[in-house]
Amino acid sequence: MKLVAFDPGYGAVKVFHEGGSFQMPSAVAVDGGRRVTGMLGLRARRPPLEVALPEGRFFVGEGAHDWGRPVESLDFERLTGSPEMRALFCGAMTRAGIEGEAELVVGLPVEAMSGPEAPGTIQAVKAFLRGVWIWSAEGHERRLEVREVLVTGQPAGALFDYFLDMDGQPLPERRGEFASEIGIINIGMNTLDLMAARKGELVQRLTGGETLGVRRLLALLNPDGLYTLAELDARLRRKELDVRPALPIWTREVLGFIERQWGRGWRRFARIIAVGGGALLLGPALAERFEGKLFVPDDPVISTARGLYKLGRQRQRRG
Ligand SMILES: Nc1ncnc2c1ncn2[C@@H]1O[C@H](COP(=O)(O)OP(=O)(O)OP(=O)(O)O)[C@@H](O)[C@H]1O
Ligand SMILES: [Mg+2]
Repeated sequence: MKLVAFDPGYGAVKVFHEGGSFQMPSAVAVDGGRRVTGMLGLRARRPPLEVALPEGRFFVGEGAHDWGRPVESLDFERLTGSPEMRALFCGAMTRAGIEGEAELVVGLPVEAMSGPEAPGTIQAVKAFLRGVWIWSAEGHERRLEVREVLVTGQPAGALFDYFLDMDGQPLPERRGEFASEIGIINIGMNTLDLMAARKGELVQRLTGGETLGVRRLLALLNPDGLYTLAELDARLRRKELDVRPALPIWTREVLGFIERQWGRGWRRFARIIAVGGGALLLGPALAERFEGKLFVPDDPVISTARGLYKLGRQRQRRG
């Protein structure tokens, strides 16, 4: 069966499957049915992807917020059934070209995976995603039957991306490190997640998260609040934003948080893996801090989704 990995990030949702990888900004807007057209001298921009669900019509992804009423605060900790989340999921599947039958591997934020509510959250996410999805987009009706849902934490994706190949087989040259402690740093849009793992298991003591992600850097660059977070984020992804004025401050904040969480403990790690879009910006500072232990994958933004896919492949092979 087709295997699809889904990493629902606060800034962008990522999909990884046999056909490749795909990412789309986590933007959703309700289609209010109004259009400004034919204004002299103004070219109407190409509309964003529109998804029609039984609950209504939504714009999703790039440009969505320019076309409808934005839905703010998509709460991924409870990826359990709002119409907006349904629209985002269907939009991502449309753009990634996924229809028919699929088995899904989903990564949740560390926060959603810890504490007494975690088992309930995992059950709810599974119940939400499993089953038959019917929606229409780009002019035709689509159908996706999600037969199976595997839920794990997002840092597990980064971990297995490092240790497994595309078939879900252990990479021989990294096998030796698997039994050692590994540190994982995910610098996402919203959160900075830290985790330690040994033999694929989470080490709780060294695990924690804080909203010190790239949004903090963007806030430092936006003191007067002239731009929305989504606008600045889009400019950053297009490499049109000069982050240099705020980079040193944010770097100190991030390193300070890691210091408080890990202290000297990081010296025990055989390897420290840094993923998320923030790893592109902080890579050099982290490499200097962690003296030869740092590993940043070739594509740190997609790494989590790719690792979830590899984990799914391993499960499929083991039957
Ligand atoms: N190619 C890039 N160059 C520079 N910055 C980038 C690039 N890609 C992404 N980013 C920035 O990195 C940030 C984090 O991206 P990422 O996709 O890892 O976050 P996320 O997974 O959506 O968030 P979270 O993990 O907190 O839910 C984004 O806000 C984006 O601005
Ligand atoms: Mg992320």
